[in-house]
Amino acid sequence: VTDSRPIGVFDSGVGGLTVLRALKAALPTESTVYLGDTARVPYGTRSAQTVITYAVNNARTLLKHGDIKALVVACNTVSAVAIEALRDAVSMPVIGVIEPGAEAALQALSVLRSMHPSSMSSSPSITVLGTQGTVRSGAYARVLAARGHAQPTTAIACPLLVPLAEEGWTTGDVPALVIDRYLQALPADVGVVILGCTHYPLLKHVIAQRLAIHRPGAIVVDGAAATAAATATLLKEHGLSSPAGATPSHRLLVTDAPQQMAALAPAFLGETVDPSSIELVDVIFDAS
Ligand code: DGL
Repeated sequence: VTDSRPIGVFDSGVGGLTVLRALKAALPTESTVYLGDTARVPYGTRSAQTVITYAVNNARTLLKHGDIKALVVACNTVSAVAIEALRDAVSMPVIGVIEPGAEAALQALSVLRSMHPSSMSSSPSITVLGTQGTVRSGAYARVLAARGHAQPTTAIACPLLVPLAEEGWTTGDVPALVIDRYLQALPADVGVVILGCTHYPLLKHVIAQRLAIHRPGAIVVDGAAATAAATATLLKEHGLSSPAGATPSHRLLVTDAPQQMAALAPAFLGETVDPSSIELVDVIFDAS
């Protein structure tokens, strides 16, 4: 069984284009419709209740504009607090970034254990870097504990990294200083650091560089590729994969400022995007 309808993807804004990029790389025949809620970004500083409301609005907005077959939640903050509400709100498979990211972290941890670098604890722990909302939710720790990870998982809120990534300040002294300051809170036994926010892949090289100084041997894990792989599995399981050899189409929707998404697309999506191809849409606030 195959299904040529697009996958719906949404995020609080442009950050989720890092997840879209991974999806396009892993699933080259799948069509996508991406919604960035650029009118209401950021979500990371908002309450869980507000993020849940916005998330359900976004799912309905995507449903209005595209006949989507599955929903990928690219935003960590939304994935942390609203996955259940989204699964209740739409009748299609829904996947977020937290479970695949946690799974990838556990795999990295077992690689690390098998290597046993002498500089590292024999039972290294996992630290999540994310928005305030993601950190407050404890979502990664819950998923890791449910998968049998015994050590406490720590989480560090790094709110300044989102504007740094959007400003394009991803190399040099400024991000290094900011990241050093956040990494001061790393536990001594950390072995794996999860990039628990859409924007952090743009700073991955600096985070990895600074981590190598603070905690030599620790591994940085980015959940975007893991989410793309998990999406492929999910589609297969539900008989929703695109026909082999299908030519995909990709639509970008925003709730404000299409030109701003176009300006950030090269850095976040790895492609240039014609601003006039980005559709400006109104948020759908209820089911009617
Ligand atoms: N997309 C958000 C996340 O991954 C970061 C930006 C925001 O705070 O809205 O958590």
